[in-house]
Amino acid sequence: MASVLSAIIFVAFLGLSLAADEGFVVPSIEFKPITKLADDIPTCRQKDSDINECIRQGFQQLTPRLKTGISDLNIPPMDPFLLGKSSYNYNSGILQGRIAMRNVLVHGLSEGIVDKVDYRQKNNRVRMDMLSHVPQLLAEGAYKADIKLNDMKITPKGTFNITLTDVSMKTRALGELYERDGHTYLRLTKLETEPKVGDMRIYANGLVPDPALNDVILDFINQYWQQLYQAMLPETMAIWEPILLKVGNDFFAALPFDLIVTKD
Ligand SMILES: *[C@@H]1O[C@H](CO)[C@@H](O)[C@H](O)[C@H]1NC(C)=O
Repeated sequence: MASVLSAIIFVAFLGLSLAADEGFVVPSIEFKPITKLADDIPTCRQKDSDINECIRQGFQQLTPRLKTGISDLNIPPMDPFLLGKSSYNYNSGILQGRIAMRNVLVHGLSEGIVDKVDYRQKNNRVRMDMLSHVPQLLAEGAYKADIKLNDMKITPKGTFNITLTDVSMKTRALGELYERDGHTYLRLTKLETEPKVGDMRIYANGLVPDPALNDVILDFINQYWQQLYQAMLPETMAIWEPILLKVGNDFFAALPFDLIVTKD
């Protein structure tokens, strides 16, 4: 459901791409068709006068289960979340380069809190706005970069970790319902999200051979992370939104919408 989508979006942010992308390995998920839900999966009734609160509670109930995954919903374990390989190209005037990351583990998604849901359904159109936040996310992994700074070429390589505190998300999903094999399904037409980060701390070794200079560079990055984040955000979202829309649609093509929001 959307909590899963926003979880994946959180993860996307740890990618920290400027203008990305080439290779990406989002773990491939097998979406087996679902015809019936286990009793411990929360559902809501379309006619419920407080359907927003019902959906909010449903997401909240499922979020801690991201630790082990929810096989009944085709949701794999997501805390920690393993982002296989990813690489990004960036080009921001003086700075040009490419960064590749591997074995990136993201911790903390199952601690997510769903603050507010606003669900609207009119005929076959569905819109859902959601506010959620995660107190802390930690990503760690290995990186390798090829950077050209003016005329200087550097090829740093090492391990890194990034701590994000107070990550809040505003997500909007638009979709339409359609009938197939006696069930109602949801097709997402738009998925927008706006993540905000309270604080960010980056650690990396191998930026430069000299450890003292490495620390100086890290201090600089940590001091200006907000500017970096703001600069990266629009393009990062432009790359991720279509990927998320596709994953979301694969997810909902396997899960009848009328099983989670029942008609009566
Ligand atoms: C990040 O890595 C450094 C060096 O290994 C380590 O000292 C630090 O505790 C790590 N930070 C977190 C939050 O794990």
